[in-house]
Amino acid sequence: MRKYIIAGNWKMFKTRGEAINFLLQVADKVPSSDLVDSVVCTQAPILRDCVKRQGDNLKVGAQNMHFKDSGAYTGETSALLLQELGVTYVIIGHSERRAMFNETDETVNLKIKQAFAFNLLPIVCVGESLEIREAGTTDEFVSNQVVKALEGISKEDVLDLVFAYEPIWAIGTGRTATPEMAEETCKTIRNTIAKVYDADTASKVRIQYGGSVNPANIDELLAEEDIDGALIGGASLDPEKFLTMVNAALKH
Ligand code: 13P
Repeated sequence: MRKYIIAGNWKMFKTRGEAINFLLQVADKVPSSDLVDSVVCTQAPILRDCVKRQGDNLKVGAQNMHFKDSGAYTGETSALLLQELGVTYVIIGHSERRAMFNETDETVNLKIKQAFAFNLLPIVCVGESLEIREAGTTDEFVSNQVVKALEGISKEDVLDLVFAYEPIWAIGTGRTATPEMAEETCKTIRNTIAKVYDADTASKVRIQYGGSVNPANIDELLAEEDIDGALIGGASLDPEKFLTMVNAALKH
């Protein structure tokens, strides 16, 4: 019932030429967006170049934006500009931004509201550190992130929001959560959405897993009931691997 969404988060990788090359190789080969949503999230200065070459079935996303309309915020990007560039998605609250760029649950919430105000689809990242996982408080921690992210978000808007569960200890480490662990926390996220809204709404919200996803492990992750896609860093940089992972969604 929920359409899979496979998104590449390119982080601060790829030059303009490399990004264009990727899109020339991949844009026409991704499956129909009736079957699976395919997304690549690039660095801000090349968003327009990538949108121009995205094709019908691949969409481009930004990795961040500011929550204010405009102002003296040197180095920041506005939602208005992303909308004008034709960007479809925006990643909000990635753990790297939470850890290194002072992103908080409050700014995450403000950014989600700003994204909806400009018709951008937010991919909202949540996830625990190794310390929290080992302390056994993952469920409470992640639930709290979800509740705070959703404060003041309408039941209609939440259907267009995608959560990405990304355990920090699994990002870029090659140490993937087992499918059972990933499923357990994605289910917690869905149960939390049900508490905030209702079970029917929660059953329609898509939840991705992210953290060392690659062509070898994506099948078993997507097979889990509450995992509706993947947010992929390293392995999404390679055109062949990206296509393999998008096509994996068709098998489920
Ligand atoms: P890796 O797939 O490189 O572990 O990165 C995951 C991630 O942070 C995606 O947003």
